[in-house]
Amino acid sequence: MSDTILETEGMTKEFRGFVAVSDVRLQVRRGTIHGLIGPNGAGKTTCFNLLTKFLPVTRGKIIYEGRDITNLKPADIARLGLVRSFQISAVFPHLTVLENVRLALQRARGNSFDFWRPESLLKRYDSRAMELLEDVGLTEYARHNAGELSYGRKRALEIATTLALEPTMMLLDEPTAGMTHDDVDRIVALVRRVAAGRTVLLVEHNLKVVEGLCDTITVLARGSVLAQGDYATVSRNPDVQAAYLGTDPGISGGTAHG
Ligand SMILES: Nc1ncnc2c1ncn2[C@@H]1O[C@H](COP(=O)(O)OP(=O)(O)O)[C@@H](O)[C@H]1O
Ligand SMILES: [Mg+2]
Repeated sequence: MSDTILETEGMTKEFRGFVAVSDVRLQVRRGTIHGLIGPNGAGKTTCFNLLTKFLPVTRGKIIYEGRDITNLKPADIARLGLVRSFQISAVFPHLTVLENVRLALQRARGNSFDFWRPESLLKRYDSRAMELLEDVGLTEYARHNAGELSYGRKRALEIATTLALEPTMMLLDEPTAGMTHDDVDRIVALVRRVAAGRTVLLVEHNLKVVEGLCDTITVLARGSVLAQGDYATVSRNPDVQAAYLGTDPGISGGTAHG
């Protein structure tokens, strides 16, 4: 098994001539938490969408587990174990927390339309669903409607529904965006927990989160890779500091905001 789980070569995305992602070479080591950071508009979300096949590349190649996935569809790569966390809109607010995870398990096993199944069969999923809820710290909320959860706990539920797909590699786009301080701490602990035994690629704006979580960081600016390395190395890089100047005081000051 190769040390590199995900790799891109010359990954490029143009929107009607505007180059949002330019010739990006990424190498994500198996079993690590890899951060993709950069100022607003750097191309982070576009990269994320390219890697998860929500957008086609204009040029370049994406290799996952030694296999060219450049032209696969999101469902194909999910089956290969490369899974992006769902958006909050994929959490059904009028179902309970437990029902949401149960539904994700049914979908993962290809039984998404088995609503007619007797309750006893659905119950089979419940013990696995409860395990996943325990993993994300939501056990006591199992019977609550998902819509009643705090924003941070909704993200935790979203991660539980992602874990239902048993990913080898998880991609998270700004999991702490818009969160209060307490929720940020909770999500950081959660990401660290779910990263055990898998690989995580994290797009994140909050540099404090990146510093605390990531083994390796790729810094993007205007669509290109500016620097790569651990936090200490990239944060000392003058190009990185310049890219953040005026857009985010975090990288040189040692503190960050979301
Ligand atoms: N669908 C699109 N059409 C045209 N331009 C886009 C589209 N998506 C993103 N862009 C542009 O690409 C650049 C990178 O955007 P994005 O990947 O969202 O950056 P980030 O997530 O780093 O803030 C921005 O200039 C943005 O306006
Ligand atoms: Mg973004």
